Amino acid sequence: MKLLLVAGARPNFMKIAPIYRAMSKKPERFQPYLVHTGQHYDPNMSADFFRDLNLPTPHFFFEVGSGSHGVQTAAVMVKMEALCFAEKPDWVVVVGDVNSTMAATLAAVKLGIRVAHVEAGLRSRDRRMPEEINRIVTDSIADLLLTPSRDGDDNLIQEGIPKERICFVGNVMIDSLVATLPLLEKVSLPLSGDYGVVTLHRPSNVDQSDTLSQLLKAILPIADFLPLVFPMHPRTRAALERFDLLPQLNAHPHIHLYPPQGYQTFMAWLKGSRMAITDSGGIQEETTFLKIPCLTLRENTERPITITHGTNQLVTLENLLTKAKEAMEHQVLKENGPEFWDGRLVGGAGRSVLKRHGCGGAWGRPEAENRQWGEWLLVIA
Ligand code: UD1
Repeated sequence: MKLLLVAGARPNFMKIAPIYRAMSKKPERFQPYLVHTGQHYDPNMSADFFRDLNLPTPHFFFEVGSGSHGVQTAAVMVKMEALCFAEKPDWVVVVGDVNSTMAATLAAVKLGIRVAHVEAGLRSRDRRMPEEINRIVTDSIADLLLTPSRDGDDNLIQEGIPKERICFVGNVMIDSLVATLPLLEKVSLPLSGDYGVVTLHRPSNVDQSDTLSQLLKAILPIADFLPLVFPMHPRTRAALERFDLLPQLNAHPHIHLYPPQGYQTFMAWLKGSRMAITDSGGIQEETTFLKIPCLTLRENTERPITITHGTNQLVTLENLLTKAKEAMEHQVLKENGPEFWDGRLVGGAGRSVLKRHGCGGAWGRPEAENRQWGEWLLVIA
C-alpha cells in the first residue's frame, strides 16, 4: 500500500514522524513517502525538526513558501495534484490544521484518492481562525477521521459525519514527545533558576499593532517576578519590528529573546519551565502531558480537553498577571491526563488501539483486534 504522508508546517512534523516510523517498520505492507510542502522553510522551522525527529529528507518537496492564504493553498493544490497523478497513492495522510493540510486533502479527494486526517474533529467554533476553516473543510471531505480526543468524535457527529468515518485513536503528537523525553536531559536550559516560556504567533494576537502592544504590556510585569524565555516565530518578530516594539522587550532585563528553536531544545525548555504563556495549539497539549501550567492567550480553544483534563487555562490581557501569580503559587497537578495521550499509539509495544477502546465501522472487526495503530489503513482497506 502506497501512502503519501503530507507535512507542511512546524506543528505537522511531530505528528507525521511516529506514523512514518511505524509504517517504515513494515515494508512488506506499507510504502510511506514523506511529502513536505515547504509552507515552513527556514531551517529552524523545518529541517531542524526533521533532524530532531529522526526523519529522513522528504521524498517530495514542493517549496511553496509563504504567501497569502489563497496563494499558499493554491500552490500546494497544484503540486499535490501533479504528485498524485504521478505517484497514484492508495492513501494520502494529512495531519493538523494548517493550510497545507486542507490543500493536500482537496487535491487528493478530487482525484478519488482516499485521505486520512490525523487530529480530526477539533473545533474552536471561531471561524475567524484560518485553522478552523482548514479543519472544517478537511474533515468534511476526508475519508477517515482519526480523532485525538472524544470531543472530536462528538463534534464530527454533530456535523453529520457518518460514524464509520470516525475513529478515536488518541494523540499521536504525544508519541513524539515521549520518544524524545530521554534526550531532553542533554539539552542545556536557557536559565539556571525558575523561568517561564512565552510563544506567540496567532495573527489575531500579533498582526495588529494595538493588540500586540497591549499583549506586551500584559506580559512585561510577569518578567518582574519570573524571567521569561521567548523563542520568537518569524511572523511575530516581523510584527514587532514593523511596529517598533522590540526595544520595549529588549529593555526588560528578564525577558530573553531567542530565534525559534528545534524540537528537542524547545521541549527541554518547556519541560524545565514553571509555566507557558502561549497562543499555540500544540503547546496546550504538550504542557498538559508535562503537567506544566499553561496560560493560553486566546478567547477559545479547539482543545478543550487540555482545560478539563489538563493544565491549560484561557486567559485575557486583564487577568494574565493574576493567573501567572496563581500559577506560581499552586502547582497544577492532575492525576490523569487525557485518554490515550500516552506515547503508545503507533508502534508502541504491540498495544492495539482496538483493544483499548471501541471504534465504529471497520475498526470493530474481530480480525483487526491485534493490529497496531500504524496498521489502520489495512484494516479499512
Ligand atoms: C502556520 C499555521 C498555523 C500554525 C503555525 C505554526 C496556517 C494557516 N497557519 O502559521 O496554524 O500554528 O504555522 O508555526 O497554516 N515565515 C518565515 N519562515 C518560515 C515560515 C514562515 O519567515 O519558515 C514567515 C513568513 O513571513 C510568513 C509568516 O512567517 O509569511 C507566516 O507563515 P505561515 O506559514 O503563513 O503562517 P504561520 O503564522 O507560520
